[in-house]
Amino acid sequence: MPDQEARGAWSSKAGFLLAAAGSAIGLGNIWRFTYIMGENGGAAFILVYVACIILIGVPLFLAELVLGRNTHLNPVGAIEAIKPGTSWKWIGALGVLAGALLLSFYSVVAGWVMAYALRAPFGTISGLASPEEAGPYFDALSSSASQSLMFHGLFMVATVVIVARGIKGGIERASKIMMPTLFILLAALAVRSMTLPGAGAGIDFMLRPDFSALTPSVVLIAMGHAFFTLSVGMGTMITYGSYLTPEHNLPMASLQVAFMDTLIAIVAGFAIFPALFAFGMEPTEGPGLVFVTLPVVFHQMPGGVLFASMFFVLFFMAALTSSISLLEVVAAYFIDELGWVRSKAVLILGVAIFLMGIPAALAMGSWGGWSIASMLGATAGQGALGSVSLFQDNWFDLISNIVSDYMLPVGGFFLCLLVGWFWNRATVEAEVFIGSPGFRFMTLWINLLRWFGPLLIGQVLVLGILAEFPAEYFPFLAQLVDTLQAWFAALDILVALAVIVVTLVAGDKTRPAEFKN
Ligand code: TRP
Repeated sequence: MPDQEARGAWSSKAGFLLAAAGSAIGLGNIWRFTYIMGENGGAAFILVYVACIILIGVPLFLAELVLGRNTHLNPVGAIEAIKPGTSWKWIGALGVLAGALLLSFYSVVAGWVMAYALRAPFGTISGLASPEEAGPYFDALSSSASQSLMFHGLFMVATVVIVARGIKGGIERASKIMMPTLFILLAALAVRSMTLPGAGAGIDFMLRPDFSALTPSVVLIAMGHAFFTLSVGMGTMITYGSYLTPEHNLPMASLQVAFMDTLIAIVAGFAIFPALFAFGMEPTEGPGLVFVTLPVVFHQMPGGVLFASMFFVLFFMAALTSSISLLEVVAAYFIDELGWVRSKAVLILGVAIFLMGIPAALAMGSWGGWSIASMLGATAGQGALGSVSLFQDNWFDLISNIVSDYMLPVGGFFLCLLVGWFWNRATVEAEVFIGSPGFRFMTLWINLLRWFGPLLIGQVLVLGILAEFPAEYFPFLAQLVDTLQAWFAALDILVALAVIVVTLVAGDKTRPAEFKN
């Protein structure tokens, strides 16, 4: 077992919880959730997203923590420790790669937040009186290569500095600051937004599901976002769990983090969509959505300058507590497995990820015309090749979609299998019971990992991949999608019934006697 002293550990229970919540709560909740939900139909999307959080996200979050605390290692090392010399370790490697890719564009967006935070105290942001002013203002920032790159660089420097100082010194202290305040500000924004004249349409958009909007691609995107927002699927919680000590209650922590994370996203939705409809904007604005909508809401609030300044500073902090978890995963691998010194690992990786982010930073401007279609000589949106959805994306969207819609779910799929089926069940259960002797849902949790996780993730991935190819040019695939959907639905119902029966019959009988209290 690795030396826990030397690797560092969380200094308190609250410290860990704040750090885990800090990792989960970030750009995903406010920036990504809202623009993606806007593009994919609103209320029905939210339902699928919440279902994925409950059925897949929370069980996986717990599984990752269990793996981390049991092995005290980074994702690759942890998997290697329980399945030595097998190909399982490639899941860990996939996670490390996903983390680096994710951080490369995350930092670009966080850079825009930083720019807004620096400008808000001067009244610039809350001075944007309408979407017609806020839109071009944001475009000017995001399409300017020099500004995007500068803020992307500054944000990476901030991330590197914190991660370089190690677990206790950096991550925990940074995470302890200001999350509740962010929540209160968001709630205030939501109140202002929902009381604007014409806000009703936005509230409807979030509450009245249109199930015809639920295509296989929308379900794939909702599931991918559930992974993204909880920071699961690539071993972040394996890494954070590796710094845990026995007194932590892992199931409780998983539930608490998922609850707070979802709550923030929903409140952010209520801060944005009512205002957006009140201003007569389209929900399909894309990645600029928060940057264009919120300034106008601040404009309509008394004390808008102060509110906007505080909000963007706290939003920036939320992004930072997430980005440090991303860099930490990548760094922990190089430190544990390759024996690099922490400061060296963090510095080199920080520079490498900054470089990887350059095309993402340019994608809203000079490099916006690039896509896989353009590389293949096709016109985006036309012809068989040009119509494949992923092929139309610019670099930013491409990386964002590949990582969250495919890499994280694939990682999650195999982590479900690993912990549910291929790891010693007694070890798994004993580890969960440490710190939570009264846990009553072991059977349910294991069955979710064994059956529901792999089944749902697998189906959504298969249908989602097929749906990347437009029916117009690939009619046989569209037919296949229809047939598969019917079969999958029947299968899901059977498995759901089986899991319910098994769980009811087994109850919490699996709880070992020595943990009874
Ligand atoms: N969950 C964070 C957010 O919502 C982003 C994030 C941090 C993340 N670490 C991650 C996403 C690991 C996936 C995997 O902003």
